[in-house]
Amino acid sequence: MIHLEIDGREVTARPGQTILEVAEEAGVRIPTLCYLSGLSPRGSCRICLVEVANWNGKLVPACATPVQEGMRVVATSPRLTELRRRVLELLFAERNHICAICVSNGHCELQDLACELGLEAVRVPYRFPGLTLDASHGKFVYDPNRCVLCGRCVRACSEVEGAMTWGFSGRGIHTTVEPDLGGPWGSSETCTECGKCVQACPVGALVERGKATAEQEKEPQLLAQITERRPRA
Ligand code: FES
Repeated sequence: MIHLEIDGREVTARPGQTILEVAEEAGVRIPTLCYLSGLSPRGSCRICLVEVANWNGKLVPACATPVQEGMRVVATSPRLTELRRRVLELLFAERNHICAICVSNGHCELQDLACELGLEAVRVPYRFPGLTLDASHGKFVYDPNRCVLCGRCVRACSEVEGAMTWGFSGRGIHTTVEPDLGGPWGSSETCTECGKCVQACPVGALVERGKATAEQEKEPQLLAQITERRPRA
């Protein structure tokens, strides 16, 4: 067993566990966005940043950092809340996240995080990139203007469904998630219409067609329920 401290609490962990997994077992809340149980960690959104006090206060993503013997992890502090809030602010500014006109209003992890972290205003200019909405699929709609590039849809599609329909395209600020490396989604030859990408999406980027805002509640836990039933290699 590995012995470490999280927020001053002594905990034990199994080798290979991440800080996030151990914190969850110990009842310590660490906010996440790109992480989804059942999928491999990607460590890209940086919402789950924690501090390792005896690594000179180094900041690491809790979802993608394996625990080590003797670590002293700070998961809750005013500094971390401020850093997470800043990351969130940049995510809000990058695309169009105007909740009042989003079909996922009330069922959105980005919105929930803003409430949890006390984000009251975005202080940097919104980019409003004006990306083209893809409503070509018979069952689902993809609005890249709502996408936070967490990659949960990409991992759900490749790791769980095995269809590999979704992938990242472009670089830097021009990065988008695309079906078959360039839409339209409705013409995809690989999409199985399983909808796992939609369930994995934390925001209003991937939604079910023809459903009203109140009906857009997703089941992201579905991915873990599927993978837990699979035999491990
Ligand atoms: Fe850990 Fe995104 S949840 S980096």
